Amino acid sequence: MHLVPAQNPSDWDSAAEGYAELIAPITGNFTDQLLSAVNLSPGEKFLDVAAGTGTTAISAAKLGATVTAVDFSEAMVELIRKNALAAGVEVTASVMDGQNLNLQDNSFDAAISAFGLMFFPNLTRGFKELYRVLKAGGRAVVLADAPQSDDPFAQVSGQALLKVIPSLSEGNDEVSAGARLAQPGAMEEYFTNAGFKNVQIQTITSEMKIRDPEQFWLKLGPALPPLKPLFNSFDNETMAEVAKAFDEVLSDTKVDGVAIVNLGALLGKGTK
Ligand SMILES: C[S@@+](CC[C@H](N)C(=O)[O-])C[C@H]1O[C@@H](n2cnc3c(N)ncnc32)[C@H](O)[C@@H]1O
Repeated sequence: MHLVPAQNPSDWDSAAEGYAELIAPITGNFTDQLLSAVNLSPGEKFLDVAAGTGTTAISAAKLGATVTAVDFSEAMVELIRKNALAAGVEVTASVMDGQNLNLQDNSFDAAISAFGLMFFPNLTRGFKELYRVLKAGGRAVVLADAPQSDDPFAQVSGQALLKVIPSLSEGNDEVSAGARLAQPGAMEEYFTNAGFKNVQIQTITSEMKIRDPEQFWLKLGPALPPLKPLFNSFDNETMAEVAKAFDEVLSDTKVDGVAIVNLGALLGKGTK
């Protein structure tokens, strides 16, 4: 699906509650894999950039790390504070642009950005800022959309859209913001050019359970600003048809009425 960079923080402010309800539980399924990839130990200083509602940051704090979480959306930062309080852990949450971190050089043991840095207009700055704030030997992990060929969720979404809107196959030559890091070799190149060593890239998956695919589809656009231009380009009737098509495409995967599909993601890691 075509994702735009969505660099207006107020779009994320408006989407924050919907994001918390619909998307954070899905991206949150990657938390264990993220924290294991970044090899976090208790007492370490951990940074989450473009942290959203704070799921990973809060898990890192529960592991005993000293956690800073930043996001450029004020509403997301408020949700991080609220969720950390409810979880009974301490997370220092601040409004910040991930391309220009107001944080000291060489100050963190580990840093991640999950489905966040991939939207930055300046990907180079995003990687270089992670590198700058890490201590020597510090570890960075970036999670981004996998290429469509490795992402069953993207495939079924594409099928549903094309069923109803075949003209979409004529395509848009412009590379989707989310797909830039999924180009062959791109993620590795950004890590390496920022100065990282021991760079490794792998595809990982997590299982999505979708109770009501039709409703899920209808809530997706408002919860995810990068989808807005694509979703807003169709009238409500067309979107309702796509939602039905999404349900049909997933019908074979249903167990007790719940659709099950894997979400693929590209995980990159490197050491300063
Ligand atoms: C898809 S969400 C991912 C949130 C969270 N990391 C997760 O895995 O659920 C993208 C997040 O990136 C934030 N974001 C986008 N561009 C940003 C930027 N330039 N600087 C900081 N945060 C940004 C948005 O506000 C949003 O919270």
